Amino acid sequence: MGFPAEFLWGGASAANQNEGAYNEGGKGLSIQDVMPRGVKGYVTDAPTEDNLKLIGTDFYHKYKQDISLLAELNIKVYRFSIAWTRIFPTGIEVAPNEEGLKFYDNLIDECIKHGIEPLITLSHYETPLYLAKKYDGWRNRKMIEHYYKFVEVCLGRYHTKVKYWLTFNEINISLISPLLAAGVLTDKKKISMSERYQIAHHMLVASAMVTKLAHDIHPQLKIGCMVAASAKYPMTCNPMDVREAEMQKQEVDFFTHIHCKGKYPYYTKRLFKKYDVELDTIDSDFDILKNTVDFISFSYYNSKTVALDETKYEQSEGNLLRGLKNPYVEYSEYGYPIDPTGLYLTLHEYYDKYQLPLFVAENGLGQKDVIEIDEDGNPTIDDQYRIDFLKEHLSAIRLAVDDGVDVFGYTMWGIIDLVSAASAEMEKRYGLVYVDRDNDGQGTLARTRKKSFFWFKKVISTNGTDLEK
Ligand code: BG6
Repeated sequence: MGFPAEFLWGGASAANQNEGAYNEGGKGLSIQDVMPRGVKGYVTDAPTEDNLKLIGTDFYHKYKQDISLLAELNIKVYRFSIAWTRIFPTGIEVAPNEEGLKFYDNLIDECIKHGIEPLITLSHYETPLYLAKKYDGWRNRKMIEHYYKFVEVCLGRYHTKVKYWLTFNEINISLISPLLAAGVLTDKKKISMSERYQIAHHMLVASAMVTKLAHDIHPQLKIGCMVAASAKYPMTCNPMDVREAEMQKQEVDFFTHIHCKGKYPYYTKRLFKKYDVELDTIDSDFDILKNTVDFISFSYYNSKTVALDETKYEQSEGNLLRGLKNPYVEYSEYGYPIDPTGLYLTLHEYYDKYQLPLFVAENGLGQKDVIEIDEDGNPTIDDQYRIDFLKEHLSAIRLAVDDGVDVFGYTMWGIIDLVSAASAEMEKRYGLVYVDRDNDGQGTLARTRKKSFFWFKKVISTNGTDLEK
């Protein structure tokens, strides 16, 4: 019992959060280059110096050093994204940017050299700014062809070296943050739910199209969907609260269902009635959607507690997914719920529903770390809280595996510190490796192993049998 022998232990990142070099190698601007305060802020006309993502953690120049740190951990898989704008700077070019591809040639080869399996997210909150401006992102169906062309190049170039691919990061966030997930520049308050489902429809069709493309190129390629998951709890045992929790669950399942079953779910009619949704579709969309994924991947950071009438209860903090304050779980420094049991339940739920292999593509604790100098003058970071968090969540996965759930990998989020997605800050850190850079952009960018680095190395070396601190 315990983790399968071939379990893919690893770490995850996204190009816009670690690469930096926003205007090097022929790269064009993405929406992230004009969002200096992340999704909680505003969009600027042009890149501004206070945008930490422009330099990120300089992975573009430091990738060899970073991959050797990952190799030292003995990780089996590294999940990263290909920045669309390195390959097609505006999105509309006919030919790809060779210099951009060269960077990923080198990065992939560096991973393989160290025995690390690359797992690629094709689109991780990185819509080309040109397309965002021209089409208002995925509101426009034209996005499908531009995305397809980008993916065709990536799959064509890397299908012999990269087996695992994710089509979109957290595709369901298109309903919550059309800007982040779908490059929609219009103020989200002006985007109706009907329009959000239209955006999602375009992305779902695109996801199925490239799933087909991948399988046509090589049947051995494994394509996964990726959703932002969270267990949903009713605040009370009032049946109306329980029903509300179930219905909110269905709004995320909507995305896994389409990816896994190849059609809109049976509750679509009710859902669309609730939100007054009228979709603009073409008949062939529904044939395309039949191209289903090989596995389900998801991010899991916390559970969400809901009630029919939420006004009666205190709200909890949360990043993109926030609910009511749950008295039975602990809270992080940022006020986010910490709930490993929710991960256990999520694994069961997806496996029960779809019977497809599961991959935990993101999980981790965002926290401000304190760097101290030991008696030999070396920097140290005692992040026991992160070890505790990861240990509890890995225990939850192990329990689900022991129950018979097929989980084949786990990539902890931001394995080397990176710039946050929601607030574009540096000091909310997730990594096992500290990067010397603060919220003002000051710092040497030097890398320092945290206490959790050594713990995770031991976890991997024992294939998760020893999770002790
Ligand atoms: C996930 C995103 O939602 O959460 C990542 O896929 C992101 O890109 C992560 O970094 C953590 O969120 P944040 O805002 O703390 O960086």
